[in-house]
Amino acid sequence: MFALRSESPATKAGQHSDLIQQARALLDGERDFTANAANLAALIFHALPDLNWAGFYWMKDGGLVLGPFQGKPACVRIALGKGVCGTAARDRRTVVVPDVHEFPGHIACDSASRSEVVVPIVHGAKVIGVLDLDSPLVRRFDESDARALEQVVELFLASTDVGG
Ligand code: SME
Repeated sequence: MFALRSESPATKAGQHSDLIQQARALLDGERDFTANAANLAALIFHALPDLNWAGFYWMKDGGLVLGPFQGKPACVRIALGKGVCGTAARDRRTVVVPDVHEFPGHIACDSASRSEVVVPIVHGAKVIGVLDLDSPLVRRFDESDARALEQVVELFLASTDVGG
């Protein structure tokens, strides 16, 4: 049975390698899309410090729709190109926002959020969704967080049946 570590390591590098190791263990032997996304959202939320939201949005009918997450209830639909999530999905690149007050068009689902990172989830030729993390701290996320979360997304895609 998977056991979540009770304390996160002091360094970011330690937190990232722990997260990736735990994600691998969590996804091992299970390929269900919803189960893996839900458990990953919970793992990320508890394994990384200083988050107030972690979860997924999925592409449906040309826009993003809320998927499994941890944190307060969030905006359900985000148009492609809107907010940080819609920008990451449209541009197919990870977006790190050190201060959401300085990102034009940021969508404030929770006024406590001050920084954000969004990783697009690209399967084959298609963006199927995004992984979104919010923090109440300004400058919580940097490029090392972005690279670690991209690895988590790669693991998710390799370990999960995505379907059509
Ligand atoms: N802030 C996001 C919206 C999603 S919530 O943070 C959960 C955005 O600007 O796209």
